[in-house]
Amino acid sequence: GNVDLTLEINGEQHRVNQLAVNTTLLDCLRDHLHLTGSKKGCGLGHCGACTVTVDGRRITSCLALAVMQQGKQITTIEGLAHGDELHPVQAAFVKQDGFQCGYCTPGQIMSAVACIQEGHTSSDDEIREWMSGNICRCGAYPNIVAAVREVAQ
Ligand code: FES
Repeated sequence: GNVDLTLEINGEQHRVNQLAVNTTLLDCLRDHLHLTGSKKGCGLGHCGACTVTVDGRRITSCLALAVMQQGKQITTIEGLAHGDELHPVQAAFVKQDGFQCGYCTPGQIMSAVACIQEGHTSSDDEIREWMSGNICRCGAYPNIVAAVREVAQ
């Protein structure tokens, strides 16, 4: 069946009408709300390209149902910058060259934000472990770790 729902995304209420109940949060964001910053890589929870935060905790949005996210605070990559001013993690990825093709970058950055907020940054090994759910096919890992380290310090 279909449902009407309201989602709070990046501090704003978004109404979605007649959404199929089995729609993932990722497909809802991309196809219904035109928030296409979150990427679909695998659709199976393996690559991390779809990472967003819900109530401050990261999730793979391809595995989450949109209808389950009502009443929660969803943050996507579109919600990080303030106008022209990049979020510190975004700025660090630019400075440290933490990407090549850029497809995984929104998910990498959302994971990095949660990694830093939750304090999993005591060493490069801990950063690598925490970020290991986000795959980068270009192999930009050393620069990604450098970007996270820079912001965490
Ligand atoms: Fe969600 Fe790959 S698209 S983990």
